[in-house]
Amino acid sequence: MTSARQKKYNNPVTAILTGISDLFRKQIPAGELKLTDRLDGKTVLIDGASSGLGFAMAVDVARRGARVIMACRSGIPEKGEKVKKLSGNPNVHMLHVDFSNVSSINELVVQLQSPSLLGIDILICNAGIVPKQSRKTPQGLEEMFMVNYFSKFLFVNLMIENHCFNGQETGVTGQNAKSKEQGSSIPRIIFIASESHRNPEKFEWADFGKYRDYSIGKSIELYGYYKLLLTTYSVELSRRLNPGAETNFSIFSLCPGPVNSNIAREAPKVFTPLLKLVFGIFFKSPAKAAVPAIYLAASGDVAGKPFDYLFLMGRKDVDEKASDPENGKKLWQLSEELRRTL
Ligand SMILES: NC(=O)c1ccc[n+]([C@@H]2O[C@H](COP(=O)([O-])OP(=O)(O)OC[C@H]3O[C@@H](n4cnc5c(N)ncnc54)[C@H](OP(=O)(O)O)[C@@H]3O)[C@@H](O)[C@H]2O)c1
Repeated sequence: MTSARQKKYNNPVTAILTGISDLFRKQIPAGELKLTDRLDGKTVLIDGASSGLGFAMAVDVARRGARVIMACRSGIPEKGEKVKKLSGNPNVHMLHVDFSNVSSINELVVQLQSPSLLGIDILICNAGIVPKQSRKTPQGLEEMFMVNYFSKFLFVNLMIENHCFNGQETGVTGQNAKSKEQGSSIPRIIFIASESHRNPEKFEWADFGKYRDYSIGKSIELYGYYKLLLTTYSVELSRRLNPGAETNFSIFSLCPGPVNSNIAREAPKVFTPLLKLVFGIFFKSPAKAAVPAIYLAASGDVAGKPFDYLFLMGRKDVDEKASDPENGKKLWQLSEELRRTL
């Protein structure tokens, strides 16, 4: 059954209206991001940091004293230089990655194993697109499926398998876990998801990973579906990494609410002036929208938690489709099978 809530992200107009009305919803904040929530001595990797939310998060974590690695498809080196200038922190590095290409993800993980870059404390998986139509990746996959979901599965699992995290004592099977002295030394992985993950009625397992043709209308609907895959993966990842009472990895997921970013860059040109106006008036600036992600990255409140999901600054349960262990298991199995074909 499709509830009224679920229909809210089915097309560009309802998606924008839902985003705006969500901003006015009353929330009990999960906590507060403080100026004293520092990241000195921590290495934070943010992908898709050339624009919008990713760029704003890079500036914020740099201001909090982190060593920042920006993994980007474009903007190298100028965006990194801008982050240095805006934050006053010279410890900002840029690496190239194209998440639509498996080879590029593999190359990034190789670079992250070099002695000068090894040891990520906090990973923020942020890159995302809303394409105007379907496009094929070099490996023949559908681009939005790849960038918004499958690249995260490949990238995060590869990073864990290659021990790219600081304080990492467990693999994706959760074996060999050792207790940690302090919650703050537990690696954190943060996924930028979306409330639109609640939109799809069901998983389409039979079509998993298959290329499909679509245009802009369907793109918004599929965006929600891929965010459902991402959210389901985040819950399953936490389950696998934290099989016992100890937390080995903190896995966090969040919806930043509507952000005045470049996410609608592929919208038909005729709508650009209107979208700019609506985004400018109603949507949050990337710096303000970054607060929930920075809270999950830097706050002691969430240290040692195996999983958390925020919508804006409010704590919520993820959609029950995403938290169902059977769905998590199925998604993991299909993703592994697809990975073996690449
Ligand atoms: N804007 C919203 O209202 C909103 C709401 C909820 C969730 N989100 C999520 O927030 C995240 C950030 O989006 P945004 O709003 O900040 O949009 P944005 O300004 O368009 O930023 C998207 C970022 O992703 C990068 N990217 C896209 N394709 C890539 C690829 N193949 N390889 C590597 N990087 C790639 C872009 O790099 P280039 O600059 O090189 O293209 C850019 O840095 C996304 O996951 C989005 O789904 C946004």
